[in-house]
Amino acid sequence: MSPLPESPAAERNKQPILEQLQRLLPSRGRLLELASGTGQHAAWFGAGLPGWQWLPTEANSAALPTIAAWVRRAGVGNVRPPCLLDVAQPTWPSDDESLARDFEQPFDAVFCANLLHIAPWTVCQPMMHGVRRHLAPDGQLLLYGPFLEGDVPTAPSNRDFDASLRQQHPAWGIRQREAVERCAHDAGLRLRQRLAMPSNNLLLVFKRA
Ligand SMILES: C[S@@+](CC[C@H](N)C(=O)[O-])C[C@H]1O[C@@H](n2cnc3c(N)ncnc32)[C@H](O)[C@@H]1O
Repeated sequence: MSPLPESPAAERNKQPILEQLQRLLPSRGRLLELASGTGQHAAWFGAGLPGWQWLPTEANSAALPTIAAWVRRAGVGNVRPPCLLDVAQPTWPSDDESLARDFEQPFDAVFCANLLHIAPWTVCQPMMHGVRRHLAPDGQLLLYGPFLEGDVPTAPSNRDFDASLRQQHPAWGIRQREAVERCAHDAGLRLRQRLAMPSNNLLLVFKRA
């Protein structure tokens, strides 16, 4: 088997995240994943949440075959073919009409890992509005990644990571949790849980107001 593009971070964090998802989510439902990256999460979480139908999406069309390959390799049947979705667009899905049907029904959960710090801050608002539009009334947004927090000292590893992100791109950087919360609030979502995760990451759980 030829090696697939792999994210070492996704390999490290997939099991701790899965354990939280298994605790937080009901036994079945439909989940929309934003910014799926390599697809390692979709493959692992699809296998670990067999009652869920998982729809991976990505803004980078070049990533779609890799996501499909990770899912195929895992042999999971409950992960849909990945589709193109740019969270910054005012309507979802961006340009794939065959998916319009999927998006007519609300999703029971939306999962997004490690997006906000490697995208301009301006994506946060359309992302939250998109989530609010497509989330079922009792659905959950599960947002994973590093965040800065006013009342929690920043870990040296996150301070270094933030500096390296800003060096790579001036519009990137670890986001302030309170600012993300305000964006969510403006879109009609409320932070319900803040879960500390390994390596100074957080899993933030939002629900509709
Ligand atoms: C650091 S990777 C994280 C991938 C995966 N979620 C993970 O945790 O392993 C960030 C991903 O966000 C995607 N991305 C960047 N801007 C996006 C946007 N506006 N809409 C959707 N995805 C985006 C990138 O293409 C990249 O795959």
